[in-house]
Amino acid sequence: METLCGKCVGPGDGLHINPWVDPVPRPYRGVVTNEWCGWRDATERALYGADDGFYTRSGGPGPAGHFRTSVHVSPLYAGAVAGLLRRVDGALGHPAELALVDVGAGRGELLTGVLAALPDGVAARLRPYAVERAARPEGLDPRIDWRDELPAPGSVTGLLFANEWLDNVPVDVVETDGDGVARRVLVRADGTERLGEPVDGADAEWLRRWWSPLPAPSTTGTGRTAPSPGLRAEVGRPRDEAWARAVRTLRAGLAVAADYAHAREDRPPFGTLTGFRDGREVRPVPDGSCDITAHVALDACAGPSAELLTQREALHALGVDGRRPPLSLASTDPAAYVRALGRAGAAAELTDPAGLGGFGWLVEPVGGECAGLLKP
Ligand SMILES: C[S@@+](CC[C@H](N)C(=O)[O-])C[C@H]1O[C@@H](n2cnc3c(N)ncnc32)[C@H](O)[C@@H]1O
Repeated sequence: METLCGKCVGPGDGLHINPWVDPVPRPYRGVVTNEWCGWRDATERALYGADDGFYTRSGGPGPAGHFRTSVHVSPLYAGAVAGLLRRVDGALGHPAELALVDVGAGRGELLTGVLAALPDGVAARLRPYAVERAARPEGLDPRIDWRDELPAPGSVTGLLFANEWLDNVPVDVVETDGDGVARRVLVRADGTERLGEPVDGADAEWLRRWWSPLPAPSTTGTGRTAPSPGLRAEVGRPRDEAWARAVRTLRAGLAVAADYAHAREDRPPFGTLTGFRDGREVRPVPDGSCDITAHVALDACAGPSAELLTQREALHALGVDGRRPPLSLASTDPAAYVRALGRAGAAAELTDPAGLGGFGWLVEPVGGECAGLLKP
């Protein structure tokens, strides 16, 4: 059965191991130097370069112009986040100021949707923050505090939500050479790669702890070990640090990261680095012409009190499911039936285990009040 990859508008396989479809190859844009460097630095410049980064250049279409996230699929998603925010509000005893911090806010679509879904009494106490490296979009609701940095550590109480943020935090890529030694992959702005120095220090330590199959040579039939050249991994350490910083902004409340994820026991042997442009998965070229993304090792990001769920489990706990309305409604209230059918279709897409429903939700309470809020 053909499935839709989360970011693809067209067919994909969800694991990003399909050959890249690049129907309209673009010439090298020249926004970054053509020197060799690691993927982390190359991605940083390509996505967030001051003048011409994929996300930061002025007048760009924003993420929604290139791929569909859960936020774009249906207002049901913002409605579910609003429902979670209300649970957080209740658990915290309805504080005078309730924060909703959207990290990697895109064009502010999620905050706009949550504001529309909240009852007036809660919206009046809400302090909505959009943390985003792109500029504030024109016409955005003036209540939204738009900034390029997180609020100060320990300064807010409420819900911090990051949908498809961590997969865009740049990471280095490593690959095993002919002797099975993990080396940093170097890349030029045109996407050409070569292997650099062996990985060492904190990155090597992270790989040992979180991506253990990579440095381990494979076992041959003779019982001797042989190197496994060509295995790849993304070093998730910058994401662990970025997530820990984001969680620290909360004085009390709940932090949630929703993203493409893999766990230690099922890391993909060739990594997941890929590109997206105009709704299609493309070869990742760090020249500012496409998004560059890789699945997130959410288990490595998780703090001691965190829980890991699938998006399907989380949305079911928040009352979003794809059950069809009873057929009897079609004869008693046809318009309501059609509306309910539309909602069920969107809910099915958001919770599809082979698509967005297979995303990971990393749910991390800060303080005891918000533990267990997504228990069924
Ligand atoms: C894939 S888009 C997701 C947008 C939105 N959350 C959604 O779900 O539609 C990722 C966004 O994260 C932003 N971003 C990445 N790193 C960031 C950082 N360190 N601080 C703020 N925003 C960041 C990018 O500019 C981009 O808009």
